[in-house]
Amino acid sequence: MTTSHSDALVLFGVTGDLAHKMTFPALYALAKRGDLNVPLVGVAFPKWSMERLHRRITDSIKRSGGIDNPRALRQLLSRLTYVSGDYQDPATFVAIKKALGGAQRPAYYLAIPPSLFGTVIKGLGAAKLAENARVIVEKPFGRDLASARALNRVARSVFPEDSIFRIDHYLGKEAIMNILYFRFANSFLEPIWNRNYIASVQITLSEKFGVGKRGAFYESAGCLRDVIQNHLFQVLALLAMEPPGTRDFGAVQTEKAKVFKAMRPLQSDDMVRGQYAGYREEPDVAKRSDVETFCALRLFIDSWRWEGVPWYLRSGKYLPENATEVLVELKPPPQKLFADAMEERGRSNYVRFRLSPCSAVALAARVKLAGKEFVGDQRELYLLEEQPGAEAPYERLLSDAMAGDGALFTREDAVEAAWSVVDSVLKKHERARHYARGTWGPKAADALIAPDGFWHNP
Ligand code: BG6
Repeated sequence: MTTSHSDALVLFGVTGDLAHKMTFPALYALAKRGDLNVPLVGVAFPKWSMERLHRRITDSIKRSGGIDNPRALRQLLSRLTYVSGDYQDPATFVAIKKALGGAQRPAYYLAIPPSLFGTVIKGLGAAKLAENARVIVEKPFGRDLASARALNRVARSVFPEDSIFRIDHYLGKEAIMNILYFRFANSFLEPIWNRNYIASVQITLSEKFGVGKRGAFYESAGCLRDVIQNHLFQVLALLAMEPPGTRDFGAVQTEKAKVFKAMRPLQSDDMVRGQYAGYREEPDVAKRSDVETFCALRLFIDSWRWEGVPWYLRSGKYLPENATEVLVELKPPPQKLFADAMEERGRSNYVRFRLSPCSAVALAARVKLAGKEFVGDQRELYLLEEQPGAEAPYERLLSDAMAGDGALFTREDAVEAAWSVVDSVLKKHERARHYARGTWGPKAADALIAPDGFWHNP
């Protein structure tokens, strides 16, 4: 263990859903690799026995892929102690201090509702538990510009910026890291990666399921806050950023923040909101809810490289596929030399990044079909198809945060700049339009993109 590695991990919200779904499987994966060598302190309000917590963790591992290494599971369970208490109560933090024993550099992971982030961070500061420590904060980081700023202020009053790890789990995905690598490890892209050759860029995150039991959370968030302002904006930033000036990852953060700062603030006619049929009957959803479960945006980046290039982003629940995909469409050749040159609804050449469920990078170009006619077909050249052995995002992000490596986390300035882009449409927008389940959202989303073509459905 290096001196800068965290020597204990405190899990706030250990009895909650996020811990069950994401955190325990990630810790189990670390234990299997032999990388879980620190004490774990679980913290939550319910007065659970250790036995009950162990059952919960075992259930989580079973559901996330099964117990294929009982020794690793035993190791995970044996490292855990539990503190039950109210986050408002200073006694809870006294108990955490005791449970931490002699730990010098603990990491605190806040898998709790965002409304409690500030309370817990202040509690850690007041109990003098923040010295040399790190804090790992889940999304959503704020719910608009003002609340993100307020949260950053609280976090910065207790922890220095390089000890704050804001999670966007998309940054921990291999396929998304590959965007950065693919762009800057190759030389053939750079000459065309700009307004002279690129006609438009589309990013779609489509999900076949609804909000399920997350109605209460969704009512306070909606699609724009839940996945677009964070996950899709991060993908966009990696596609749009300038080459980092130096090799350190701080330089990547700086370039990403510049992209958000150059994005034109959205106006209400740049956005289409939709709501799937039956959303209002979901548990914990208001009967007259106007929360969007689908959102499509048209964005512009006012920079030398991207001036005038439209970026279309779209996401929704109960769409026809589970898939995330980017399509970078090139401009057509200057002259139509062949009969089939530009069929009415044909696409020009493009670069396609499939980000999930599998990952792929494909280049599409036209080739002539055999025969007398000069007629061709657009074919995809696959540069990459699914690579086995990738670490799951949470496994990667937790171990990076504990090692003090902030490369895959978001920075204060970038988070605030991203909120600035959407801030006005969070407050001022048209009502959500209804769409049938299993469709690609409201028709108005097609009208939004119509001046530049049509959506690419993954
Ligand atoms: C989460 C959102 O951050 O990301 C969910 O809260 C969404 O609503 C999920 O389903 C998508 O992530 P992934 O990794 O499944 O594409």
